Amino acid sequence: MQQREKFSSRLGFILISAGCAIGLGNVYRFPIITGAYGGAFFVLIYLVFLLLLGVPVMTAELSVGRGSQRSIATSFEVLERKGQKWHLMKYLGVVGNYLLMMFYTCISGWMVIYFFKYLTGSILQYEGVEALGGAFGAMVSNPGLLIPVTFGVILLCFGACSLGLQKGVEKITKVMMLMLLALILGLGAYSCTLSGAGAGLKFYLVPSLENLRASGVWTVISAAMGQAFFTLSLGMGSIAIFGSYIDRDRSLLGEAVTITALDTFVALMSGLIIFPAYFTFNAGAQGIPADQAGAGFLFTTLSSIFNSMGAGRVIGAFFFLFMMFAAFSTVIAVFENIVSFWLELTKFSRRKIAAINVALMMVLSLPCILSLNVWSNVQIFGKTFMDLEDYMVSNLLLPIGSLCYVLFCTSRYGWGWDRYEAEVNSGLGLKLPRWIRPYMTYVLPVIIAVILVLSAF
Ligand code: ALA
Repeated sequence: MQQREKFSSRLGFILISAGCAIGLGNVYRFPIITGAYGGAFFVLIYLVFLLLLGVPVMTAELSVGRGSQRSIATSFEVLERKGQKWHLMKYLGVVGNYLLMMFYTCISGWMVIYFFKYLTGSILQYEGVEALGGAFGAMVSNPGLLIPVTFGVILLCFGACSLGLQKGVEKITKVMMLMLLALILGLGAYSCTLSGAGAGLKFYLVPSLENLRASGVWTVISAAMGQAFFTLSLGMGSIAIFGSYIDRDRSLLGEAVTITALDTFVALMSGLIIFPAYFTFNAGAQGIPADQAGAGFLFTTLSSIFNSMGAGRVIGAFFFLFMMFAAFSTVIAVFENIVSFWLELTKFSRRKIAAINVALMMVLSLPCILSLNVWSNVQIFGKTFMDLEDYMVSNLLLPIGSLCYVLFCTSRYGWGWDRYEAEVNSGLGLKLPRWIRPYMTYVLPVIIAVILVLSAF
């Protein structure tokens, strides 16, 4: 096998791993479910789960990646002992990564379309939530628009991967992530100067038991747990792969904390941009009605805010540029994981693999796109293709995969605690505290198993 390519710098590793984590989950899913599940309490529970679940699972993934120097396609084969079956995880990893991208590329395409709508100003002709709802509906019901745009996203992002780890993925994502962080700071500062900032921040940051009860405590808890896995892209090897591209000069707990902190910063800032804007436009609102907290939230409510502002065209364009960067950084990272499976399992070159996967991904993205329009009546287990793909990834594959990573690292029937601990602790930086061993061995698997059961049904 060829010498494994490495990141050129630690900043590259941190920004690309954070880029994989930071995506539509932070800037699209997080504000929507925060709105739907009553605001501040949801945010609080979500933050607790990031610490309790996110950071330890991330160390497990990164250590398996770094310890094996492989992607999920072959990492368990390298680390397991003879006769063990952990390598079956590769199937979960492969399916999970493709399934995620089957709907994620389509939603990323919406961000591209709205970016251009603001850039050209064509969206400004629609006034009010209803007219904008009509424009959003027209977009999703038009496969003639969605198909070429989604295909463009696939082509661009596999194009970045085909250039190589350092020259493509690292270089492009680094620039996008730095711009994203600058954009988010600018938009956040602006949003806090709006007249509804006080009401928005209250809803967002001051926990209200009433809101929690109205949403249902268990629903809120299970949504917060699911979001913690989704936002960090845990459980399907897409974080592990970046562990396989680094050396042992930094401990992995410190790196996991930094990546989680960056991801959380972007999610929290998205809320800081969105809620003050929402409450400014809907003066006197107490909360976000459930029927407004769906997909249309960004494309109708927020767009109506942009359209009613003097500088709305510019702000709207920047906002959707920010959404696009966040989405692309995740797509490129997950595609890089897919490319590395193929590099390990076949003898094909990176370029050939990227070309094959462009075609494959284009075909695979079609059920989701068509489920929004011509196939909207087709349902499997009561769900459209898009909802089914999201459900399978978020509610099943990510928790199952995370559970397997944790068990593999902590159980003597897997890699075992000592090897895991040695791998995480090698290098400078934070070391695993002593209490974490019983926690990760006995408590964490139970928490994940409970989430799995709760969110599966
Ligand atoms: N972690 C990715 C996101 O949040 C999947 O969008």
